[in-house]
Amino acid sequence: MWGGRFAEGPSAIMREINASIPFDKALWREDIRASKAHVVMLGAQGIVSADDAATITDGLDQVAAEYERHGVPEDWDLEDIHMTVEARLTELVGPVAGRLHTARSRNDQVATDFRIWVRTANARALAGLSALRSALVERAGEHADTIMPGFTHLQTAQPVTLGHHLMAYYEMLSRDADRFEAAQDRLNQCPLGSAALAGTGFPIDRDATAQALDFREPTRNSLDAVSDRDFALDYLMAASQCSLHLSRLAEELILWASQPFGFASLPDSLSTGSSIMPQKRNPDAAELVRGHAGRIVGAVTSLMITMKGLPLAYSKDMQDDKPPVFEAASLFDLSVAAMTGMIAETTFKVDRMRAAAQAGHATATDLADWLVREGDIPFREAHHITGEAVKLADTKGCSLEELALRDLQAIDARIDDRVYSALSIDASVASRASYGGTAPDQVREQVAEARAKLKRASLRGP
Ligand code: ARG
Repeated sequence: MWGGRFAEGPSAIMREINASIPFDKALWREDIRASKAHVVMLGAQGIVSADDAATITDGLDQVAAEYERHGVPEDWDLEDIHMTVEARLTELVGPVAGRLHTARSRNDQVATDFRIWVRTANARALAGLSALRSALVERAGEHADTIMPGFTHLQTAQPVTLGHHLMAYYEMLSRDADRFEAAQDRLNQCPLGSAALAGTGFPIDRDATAQALDFREPTRNSLDAVSDRDFALDYLMAASQCSLHLSRLAEELILWASQPFGFASLPDSLSTGSSIMPQKRNPDAAELVRGHAGRIVGAVTSLMITMKGLPLAYSKDMQDDKPPVFEAASLFDLSVAAMTGMIAETTFKVDRMRAAAQAGHATATDLADWLVREGDIPFREAHHITGEAVKLADTKGCSLEELALRDLQAIDARIDDRVYSALSIDASVASRASYGGTAPDQVREQVAEARAKLKRASLRGP
């Protein structure tokens, strides 16, 4: 293809560094679809004859059928998926294939193909997240009353409900879904027709190609359109932020499934045994979700640094945009699917959770609050009195609830036997009924709201 300009073919190193076909062949469906939309438009505008447009369209269908059956051949001399498709089309339909590239360039072609690919990835992410969010909501509903220790600094802080804890992840993942939706909205413009960088002198119809490729409208500036990869970064940033959430959830499952915690037993189908220690059941899927977050975040860094400092318009650096996106997308999809399975099928050990909530003086704040409410004691003083009670319980090796009234009264005479109703973990969680609090009734309300929201979204479709 450089025949006119270069006396010799590219060196072996040039061929190798230039070839993107090993990875961009993943775009073959998008490439053929966009080419068909383009040639149909060329035909409709009279830029190529109706006959030629039909021949090229049929030829492209034939190429697609071949790739579907046998995969895409990798010939480095053909550089990329665009040249590969065109070369095969030429073999099939002859020189008329050369008319396909009228009024376009590989620059607007690749920008269009990649946008369509990322659009599908956004849609997959949204579908995956909706399944995972549903799983969280269902398990949260099931465990609205299950009490576990809530932690700060990973120290027992106050009792919470497992449903509340799971719904915290529902909230994170809902924000992630919003980010994928915003990304989807922003990428909804078609670059095709921007040509190499400046647009074209042919009387093309950009609205027609945008519509044929399911975009809301054409992009407005050809220089921007061929050099913009924000849509890929938007996807990677949404996936990265989400992967941080998945990684935190994975970390909690790993901790909970450890013997000292014993809060959860992960499903066999997503655990592995040890080749040497027969008693072990390793949370490998959760660990890999946690690990994959590193690679997904690495992909954003990679593409950001590729794009940084590029002058307008297209530069070949941009060919490196695809591997990080492809890799991150498959890691991300797999992570979401694995996490959905783990959430749906983990067995929560409710007795262990309850016992742990009982053990760490988790109701100390409730005692302090009771002193404030019933004794009209300033919170700082109540905090100090409670500290004495905790110290005493520790020396006696018992819980706050198990301290005798006379021992409590020795610490502060204003305490009476009504205090015991505040010291149980059940009373503690039930009392935290402020909006967004951990009380079972609050959790049930949040679960109902989330269910309705997910249902509305599923009726709306992607
Ligand atoms: N393979 C190239 C890419 O992925 C296609 C665009 C090539 N454009 C060019 N002017 N060399 O970016």
